[in-house]
Amino acid sequence: MAFEFIAAELARRQEDSLLRRRQLIEHADGRCLEVAGRRYLNFSSNDYLGLAHSDELKAIATRCVSDWSAGSGASPLVTGHSLAHARLEDYLADLTGRDKVLLFNSGFAANQALIQSLMAKGGHILADKLSHASMLDGALATQARLQRYRHNDMQHLSELVLKVDGDTLIMTEGVFSMDGDKAPISRLCDIAASCQALCYLDDAHGFGVLGPQGIGSAEGISQHALPLLMATFGKAIGTSGAFLAIPATVHDYLVNFARHYIYSTAMSPLLAAITLESLKLVKGQAWRREKLSENIHCFRHLCQSAGVPLMASDTAIQPVLMGDAERTLTLCQIMKNNGLWLTAIRPPTVPPGSARLRITLTTAHSRDDICKLVKVLAQGLNGDK
Ligand SMILES: Cc1ncc(COP(=O)(O)O)c(C=O)c1O
Repeated sequence: MAFEFIAAELARRQEDSLLRRRQLIEHADGRCLEVAGRRYLNFSSNDYLGLAHSDELKAIATRCVSDWSAGSGASPLVTGHSLAHARLEDYLADLTGRDKVLLFNSGFAANQALIQSLMAKGGHILADKLSHASMLDGALATQARLQRYRHNDMQHLSELVLKVDGDTLIMTEGVFSMDGDKAPISRLCDIAASCQALCYLDDAHGFGVLGPQGIGSAEGISQHALPLLMATFGKAIGTSGAFLAIPATVHDYLVNFARHYIYSTAMSPLLAAITLESLKLVKGQAWRREKLSENIHCFRHLCQSAGVPLMASDTAIQPVLMGDAERTLTLCQIMKNNGLWLTAIRPPTVPPGSARLRITLTTAHSRDDICKLVKVLAQGLNGDK
C-alpha cells in the first residue's frame, strides 16, 4: 500500500509520548482560557503585553472595521497593497530606523522569503544552533551551505567565519523561543562586519517587549550594523503577521524576487490598520513592559525560594527543563489538574532529552497567579522525584 509511512510515523510518535494534538480553546481573555468547559490560568501565551484581548485593542478593532476591508483581494504586486499597508510600513521603517519595510502574513513566510531570496545563488549561512524551524527550513531550501554554530557561542562563530568566503549570512533569534535567553547581538554584528557578512535577526520574541521603547533586541543598533531585521505581530503586538525592516536595495530585490511575497495575497488591510494602532499602544504604554518585568522578577524570585530549577532567562519565556518527554507530560497534567495551562515542549521542537515545560509570563498575570503557579510547580516537581 502507498503512503504506509503515515500510520507508522504516527504510531511511533504515540509510543514515544511525542504525539501532537491541538486543543480547542473555547474562550480566552488574556489571563485565562477555557478548554472543555473548564477555566485555567494561561501560562502558555505569547501575548506578552496582554494586548490581544485588551479592551483597548478591541475598541481599536471596532473603529477600524468601518474604514478597512477584511481582505486585500490580491497579492501586493497586483492590487493588494493599500494605504493601510503603506502606513504600517512607513511607521515601522521610522520606528526601527531602517530604509524600508515589507509586510508578510506570518513570521514563517518572512523568514523563508528573506533567506531563500538572498541566498538563492549559494554562499554560506551561519545559524545559531537553536534558530527557529522557519529559518532553518529557509536555509535548507537554498543552494547555500548551512552551518550551525553552538548556541550563542561567539568563539565558535568566529572560527567558522574564518573558513567562509563570498556571500555569507549570519542569522540568529533575538530571544530564543524555547529557552528564553538572548543573543549577544552587538558581538554578532561585529563578527559579521569583520568578514563582510550580513547579519539577520529574527526578533519574534523581543519585538514590543525589549528596549525602552519596545523596539526589541535591536533597539539602538543601526541598519549599517544590523541590516536585516524580522519581527512578528502575533506575539507582543497582539495581532498577527510579520515584517522585514531592510535597506532599500534589499527591499527592491525582494519585491522582485521573493516568491513568498509576490505570489501570496497581501495581509488583510483591516489587520494592518489594527496592527498600526497596536504598535502605537506598545510604544506609548511603557507600563505594560514594566509590569511584565515585575512579573518575571517575581516568578524567578519565588522559584528560587521554592527550589524550582530555572534556565538562564530573564525574559517572559521561563522554561522548566525536565529532559524526559513522559515526565514532562505528567507534570503538565498535574498543572492542568490544578487549573494551570502550560505546554509540554518535546522533541523534535527541542533537542532529544531536553523536553520542558515552557512557561510564558505576561502583563495580564497578577502576583497571586504567579504565586499559585510556583506553588503547584514546586509540589509537582517534588512529587515527581
Ligand atoms: C523565533 C520565531 N520566528 C518565527 C516564528 C514564526 O512566526 P509566525 O507565528 O508569525 O509565523 C516564530 C513563531 O512561533 C518564532 O518563534
